[in-house]
Amino acid sequence: MGSRILVVLLVVSVQILVLTGQPGNQDYAALIALKNQLQNTPPNWVGSDPCGKSWDGIVCTNSRVTSITLSSMNLTGQLSGDILSFLELQTLDLSYNKGLTGPLPPSIGNLKKLSNLILVGCSFSGPIPDTIGSLQQLVFLSLNSNSFNGPIPPSIGNLSNLYWLDLADNKLSGTIPVSNENSPGLDMLIHTKHFHFGKNQLSGQIPSQLFSSNMALIHVLFESNNLIGNIPPTLGLVQTLEVVRLDRNLLSGPVPSNLNNLTHVSELHLSNNRLTGPVPNLTGMNVLNYVDMSNNTFELTNVPPWFSTLQSLTTLMMERTKLQGQIPVALFSSPQLQTVILSNNQLNGTLDIGSSYSSQLQLIDLQKNLISAFTRRVGGYNNELILVDNPVCQETGVTENYCISQQSNSSVEYSTPPNHCLPVPCSSNQISSPNCRCAYPYTGTLFFRAPSFSNLGNLSIFTSLQKSLMLSFQTHQLPVDSVSLSNATKNSDDYLVLNLKVFPSGQDSFNRAGISGIGFVLSNQTFKPPRNFGPFFFNGDPYGYFEGGVSTSTKKSSSTGIIIGAAVGGSVLVLLLLLAGFYAFCQKRRAERATKENNPFASWDSTKGSGDVPQLKGARCFSFEELKKFTNNFSEANDIGSGGYGKVYRGILPSGQLVAVKRAQQGSMQGGLEFKTEIELLSRVHHKNVVGLVGFCFKQGEQMLVYEYIPNGTLKESLSGKSGIRLEWIRRLRIALGAARGLQYLHDLANPPIIHRDIKSNNILLDEHLNAKVADFGLSKPMSDTGRSHVTTQVKGTMGYLDPEYYMTQQLTEKSDVYSFGVLLLELITARNPIEKGKYIVREVRQSMDKAKNLYNLHGMLDPTIGLGTQPKGLEKFVDLAFRCVEESGAARPTMSEVVKEIENIMQLAGLNPNAESASTSASYEGESKGFDHPYSNEGLFAYSAAFPPSKLEAQ
Ligand SMILES: *[C@@H]1O[C@H](CO)[C@@H](O)[C@H](O)[C@H]1NC(C)=O
Ligand SMILES: *[C@@H]1O[C@H](CO)[C@@H](O)[C@H](O)[C@H]1NC(C)=O
Ligand SMILES: *[C@@H]1O[C@H](CO)[C@@H](O)[C@H](O)[C@H]1NC(C)=O
Ligand SMILES: *[C@@H]1O[C@H](CO)[C@@H](O)[C@H](O)[C@H]1NC(C)=O
Repeated sequence: MGSRILVVLLVVSVQILVLTGQPGNQDYAALIALKNQLQNTPPNWVGSDPCGKSWDGIVCTNSRVTSITLSSMNLTGQLSGDILSFLELQTLDLSYNKGLTGPLPPSIGNLKKLSNLILVGCSFSGPIPDTIGSLQQLVFLSLNSNSFNGPIPPSIGNLSNLYWLDLADNKLSGTIPVSNENSPGLDMLIHTKHFHFGKNQLSGQIPSQLFSSNMALIHVLFESNNLIGNIPPTLGLVQTLEVVRLDRNLLSGPVPSNLNNLTHVSELHLSNNRLTGPVPNLTGMNVLNYVDMSNNTFELTNVPPWFSTLQSLTTLMMERTKLQGQIPVALFSSPQLQTVILSNNQLNGTLDIGSSYSSQLQLIDLQKNLISAFTRRVGGYNNELILVDNPVCQETGVTENYCISQQSNSSVEYSTPPNHCLPVPCSSNQISSPNCRCAYPYTGTLFFRAPSFSNLGNLSIFTSLQKSLMLSFQTHQLPVDSVSLSNATKNSDDYLVLNLKVFPSGQDSFNRAGISGIGFVLSNQTFKPPRNFGPFFFNGDPYGYFEGGVSTSTKKSSSTGIIIGAAVGGSVLVLLLLLAGFYAFCQKRRAERATKENNPFASWDSTKGSGDVPQLKGARCFSFEELKKFTNNFSEANDIGSGGYGKVYRGILPSGQLVAVKRAQQGSMQGGLEFKTEIELLSRVHHKNVVGLVGFCFKQGEQMLVYEYIPNGTLKESLSGKSGIRLEWIRRLRIALGAARGLQYLHDLANPPIIHRDIKSNNILLDEHLNAKVADFGLSKPMSDTGRSHVTTQVKGTMGYLDPEYYMTQQLTEKSDVYSFGVLLLELITARNPIEKGKYIVREVRQSMDKAKNLYNLHGMLDPTIGLGTQPKGLEKFVDLAFRCVEESGAARPTMSEVVKEIENIMQLAGLNPNAESASTSASYEGESKGFDHPYSNEGLFAYSAAFPPSKLEAQ
């Protein structure tokens, strides 16, 4: 009896200790509520410290839960009421839990800090709550593949930071909302790049107001809805578009004639509508890969001549579109052409594929036409040809293959082959991995909504996808041994569907941390497929093999479970021990917290992320000793530059990576907290046109920043001829574009947005391919979330580049960087210093300029290296842009995203592809293929490193 009371007392005192010992107990209660409401939450959600290492799927910052990632956990239940009361939550990923049902509670709108809301592939139903529009920080919203119904809430138009909007594959109905005086609408989303609304029941017309020229959309995917009416001509104003899917709707009327103004579009799907009028003229859409206009009722037309002018075309589908006349032989010579489907038309005459047909051509389907003869050539086209139901096959005695009905191949039994090993027989549900080890893979399905290719028989595309998946998992330090892909098919939505298996490394199954990491890399689009795969989504299967896995965290928790069980069973002694242990643990944590507060870097563990890891996500902390060694004792030979702040040294890490170490000298050091702020800022900046931070050192009175080493030095050195690099016009355009993209990223996509404050040719570095990288953030300012319009600061910057408005008002805005960038553009064409012999470049160029004359009469001012022999195409527009950037009033200057667009336009005028990688020879700029980069090259989503910091991954 007495011992019972003692147990109760002890339990009560444990709880008191727990509650008072945890500053995060507010979120603790919310997590417990979540745990009680849902089945299959991670079994290691025990104990009182959700912010410790052991709670799977939870990440905290300052003892508040900032990230919940629980994909593919087989979670079951409903999120009811105000269950989600995590006020500091930034990322919520509950994807691939088909057991999550019921509505999304309106209280979701209370998660004011939320930037990533990802609920792909669950079973949520009911309307999308209107309160979602109050999540002002939202950047990434994926609600696809659920059963949401009702209309798209107009309030989504208020999400001014939204970058990704995926509502596809639900039961949404009603019209696409646009704004009016009473209500917001999706036309307001001018920073959003992705509208993925396919596979719903959306109806009504596509509002003409939805699109405008100041939008940044790259993917408009409205396929498989019930949309009616005309395609609005405003679509032709969205110059950034790359993929347009309007197929499988009820659209009617003629296609707007300005569609071919969309010169970045590579995938265009208009099939299965009721479009009328002439076949759209796509002349000039020079990067178009995939065109499907089948099953419309266009006017009777001859095969349009523009077909054969589209040099990037891989796929031409115009089934049932009333084409007539003879097929021009030139059609088949488009060099990348793989598939031509012109069946069910009235094509006639003699079919001649010619001898210079595309070497990639795999399928020509011309069934149900009026073709009366076929010209065979020796050594000519020998792949699949279908002429069934043409007069040529109706003559008696024809036994040609092309006259035999065949099932056209739309799937391949491909499966990633074993990696130089013999597959092994495995027991139960284990599967032999590509590395021939039995294990329980994580499985799911990849859906590519608009690939640029149609030939699934080219297996190297799957190899490149497999490699890029593997690379992505490795980069994110996930415990993945290998990846296998199989059963590629085109489904009835014209999506490319592939099965994915991900095998665990080191053990035969994944633990929960591994699964939620892999799930998040795929649900949050951290993984970018090779560019030709286009937009994708993944739908994961629940993973049923956690228990078999050897996981340090689950082991720990199960032993705690046993202790608790034993204690409750009657052993007061064990409970006492437990209590003592708890007490000691809390004391230790308090002590740790105290140290943390004294030293802002106590939590940065210097051993973290070292070794073979290919890419560090967070900044690594180096000791003074290490950096001394890596720079050969800061030797003179490794001194590669200096400035007011101190010196820059070249160094080499044990991994072989070259780095640039910037060492502050005495007197120019910042306070510890400022230094920490700068590192935190820099470690969140990841963009190919911004120099990446590798690490830092904050020890023994030293402040050092370690950057990736950029081999070709500064733009200034190249312009002055010092570096020996010849910058002709094309290269300058690419450098301007790269620098502009880097700066645009800092302004628009970095979180928080950053004003650089010191843009100049000395701070633009050139890498081995002469890609521009923005460097030196010594003066940079993050824009606070609240007063986003400007910050008042002491004026800093470099004379000659300094924005006069900022100088006078001390109010810093993004437009100050735009001014400096304008000066940089003038420097790029003249190779002169902004202030030279007392003369200011802006004034000098303006005075010499005569807009009526060729090259604005600037011959005398231009840097001869530009190559005046070959007319620098677009130079006038470039000069116009520079002068818009240096407008006196900031408001009159363009934003960096407008600058990027304009430089892209100029490049296209000069016949260049602005999305091609730059290279060291100008010859390779032309005719480049799209290669291995991904479709959203400017995207910067860093949620991954926030949701999976190195400390969390090590806990696995
Ligand atoms: C086509 O695009 C250009 C800009 O590249 C724009 O000036 C023009 O107005 C557009 N034309 C139409 C018909 O939309
Ligand atoms: C298509 O457009 C191009 C340029 O916009 C024009 O030169 C050509 O004549 C047009 N072709 C047809 C068939 O209308
Ligand atoms: C065109 O319509 C037919 C019949 O409705 C269908 O079988 C075919 O798949 C459609 N073609 C395309 C390319 O969608
Ligand atoms: C998912 O959970 C349910 C019970 O909630 C269970 O019956 C089922 O077997 C689980 N599935 C897997 C794959 O673990």
